[in-house]
Amino acid sequence: MSSTKSNLEDVLVSERELWLDGPPHELFAQLRSECPVHWTSSISEYPEEAGYWSITRADDVHKVSRDWRTFSSEMGGITAVVAAFPIELMRAMFIGMDPPKHDRLKMLFQAGFTPRRIAAHEPAIRAIVVDVLDRLEGRETCDLVTDVAQPAVSRVIGSFMGIPPEDDHAWATLMNSALGAGDPDLNPDGLDSVVAKDIPEIFARCQRMIAERREYPTHDLTSVLVHAEIDGQKLEEHEIVMGFFLLVAAGNDSTKATYCSGMRALMDHPDQRRLLLADPSLISGAVEESLRMFPAFAHFRRTATCDTEVGAQPIKGGEKVVMWYVSSNRDESRFEDPDRFDVGRNPEHQAFGAGGRHFCLGAALARLELNVMFEETLKRYPAMEMAGAPVYAESAFINQLKTLPVRLTPRR
Ligand code: HEM
Repeated sequence: MSSTKSNLEDVLVSERELWLDGPPHELFAQLRSECPVHWTSSISEYPEEAGYWSITRADDVHKVSRDWRTFSSEMGGITAVVAAFPIELMRAMFIGMDPPKHDRLKMLFQAGFTPRRIAAHEPAIRAIVVDVLDRLEGRETCDLVTDVAQPAVSRVIGSFMGIPPEDDHAWATLMNSALGAGDPDLNPDGLDSVVAKDIPEIFARCQRMIAERREYPTHDLTSVLVHAEIDGQKLEEHEIVMGFFLLVAAGNDSTKATYCSGMRALMDHPDQRRLLLADPSLISGAVEESLRMFPAFAHFRRTATCDTEVGAQPIKGGEKVVMWYVSSNRDESRFEDPDRFDVGRNPEHQAFGAGGRHFCLGAALARLELNVMFEETLKRYPAMEMAGAPVYAESAFINQLKTLPVRLTPRR
């Protein structure tokens, strides 16, 4: 056995120190080439958690994603670490269910999320983004994460859910702390506070919205959850709350992440930005390239329901299987020179999942939001430049910057 191979065998992929500057892309490249299905034996910060298999190649991620009978979302949770979040709450969201219950719940929303139905929201989404950019009037600098991305995406998902605008900030703070539970800035009170403080607050806030809609049905997605019937039965209260949580969490975090990393890439690569400024029809390609290179979620996880194998590696029933989208999206067997940011590439990526039952419900909405946000930002601030060091959230799950200071219009 070569020494690099034995070094890889000792690697613990999700250790915090490997992720401080974003995903460890060199490590993933080595795994794809030398040990594409890799065993991490433990997670230092969570000694009680079992180890997991890392799936790093696009073809293998595709296989795991599509085979829900062998690789369950329900059995053990959907992230590598589950300590921060009670499993029964994870299973109350359709992202944490297997068919047939998953399919029935997802179907309630699917018709409203098709590209055609979502396209009807474009004027409203553009108005939200323009309003957020208007608030920067007179400023020389801002933080793209907190001043632009967060308020814009929170209002978009807030309007879908029926959240009043004045509550956007409170919901965003709750979602950031639950999804970025291990990050000292996103969740300053520490891991235990998610269960002790955040989840009870999410329930309390949500229960008020549920009670209002029981009495007076509305046209928002919260009302869809409140009045849904699956096999003749209404959803339980915790299922409604967690359905709400899923939509708000996914809507808040993900689009923000890809927008900020995409903007940073355009500032780092002025040649690519010049192409977009000369021909704005290339923006949709830039959005796809940003999704490929900076997928909002570094991974999702399944649990093997029986003894099986991936890429000739035996996997035992009950073991965790982690699909690393940050790796599969840079698989050199699919993408030439995968670390190069190229707005003309128009890639077929796995940022929204790899074609299985859990393929992102919000893909059309996220694409529309990202296109509008890229267009409006580039139009208003074509020469924006970095004004400080961007900082990544400390997480092997959410792949996002928590700060991105920029100078909106360069000094003459
Ligand atoms: C850049 C933006 C986004 C990215 C990269 C993204 C990524 C993903 C991924 C990878 C999954 C699959 C999870 C799995 O395999 O277990 C997923 C599922 C999901 N996403 Fe997104 N997402 C984005 C935006 C959104 C938005 C805006 C919404 C708004 C409603 C949304 C709602 C959902 C829901 C509900 C699911 C669960 C689907 C299911 O279990 O069938 N996402 N997303």
